[in-house]
Amino acid sequence: MPGHFITFEGGEGAGKSTQIERLKSFLESQGKTVVVTREPGGSPGAEKIRSILLSGEAKELGPRGEAMLFAAARADHVDSLIKPALDRGDWVLCDRYADSTRVYQGEAGVDTAYLDLLETAAVAGIRPELTILIDVPAKIGLSRVAERSKSDDSGGPDRFEGEALAVHERRRQLFLSLAKEEAYRFAVVNGSMPLKVVEDAVMSAVKNTFPDDLKGQDKPLMASKGTS
Ligand code: TYD
Repeated sequence: MPGHFITFEGGEGAGKSTQIERLKSFLESQGKTVVVTREPGGSPGAEKIRSILLSGEAKELGPRGEAMLFAAARADHVDSLIKPALDRGDWVLCDRYADSTRVYQGEAGVDTAYLDLLETAAVAGIRPELTILIDVPAKIGLSRVAERSKSDDSGGPDRFEGEALAVHERRRQLFLSLAKEEAYRFAVVNGSMPLKVVEDAVMSAVKNTFPDDLKGQDKPLMASKGTS
């Protein structure tokens, strides 16, 4: 693939979107073309499935049915947005991807072998080269979400945000064990740190993973003042 694919994962209120925007600006400042997208959603068809999933309308299908809908949304997203962007040579930054299904639907009790099958079908070989897991204790993440929904018109927590603290903490542990199992593609960043510290950690993960594409970026620009 000529392009590069980076996914961001983490629990609610981890701060993924802020870090994605910062990484996008950095990459653009290096002359890269960047596509920012998210799951569930990211393409017109998948956005329709997103609203069904997040409103809770699909809850009656049970976790296995919901997992199928996440996979259907992902398949459309991959075919109509992610793969074409990677084929063009763009950098794709995706807010959640297949790991979220492993964690959220896995925590809800869906069998791993079944989730693996869905994942293989949905991603069609398109897997992230780097996954940045922004890790925050569930309590901190949820209090950020509560703050955020006071100041926007989202109408309170969605289907997945509104679950018990223990559920969120279990998801956190599942993300962390996934990161251990597939350490070759994961960078775990402490999301409780100040934004700038988190940003620096994200940047170093990206520079370490793609040294040939971003080489020399840390060197200071040549001083233009004629002091010699
Ligand atoms: P979103 O508002 O995008 O949440 P966030 O800002 O936390 O990313 O909502 C996505 C919700 O859907 C989130 O609670 C996680 C959940 N989800 C799954 O359960 N399975 C999945 O495969 C994906 C992609 C998301």
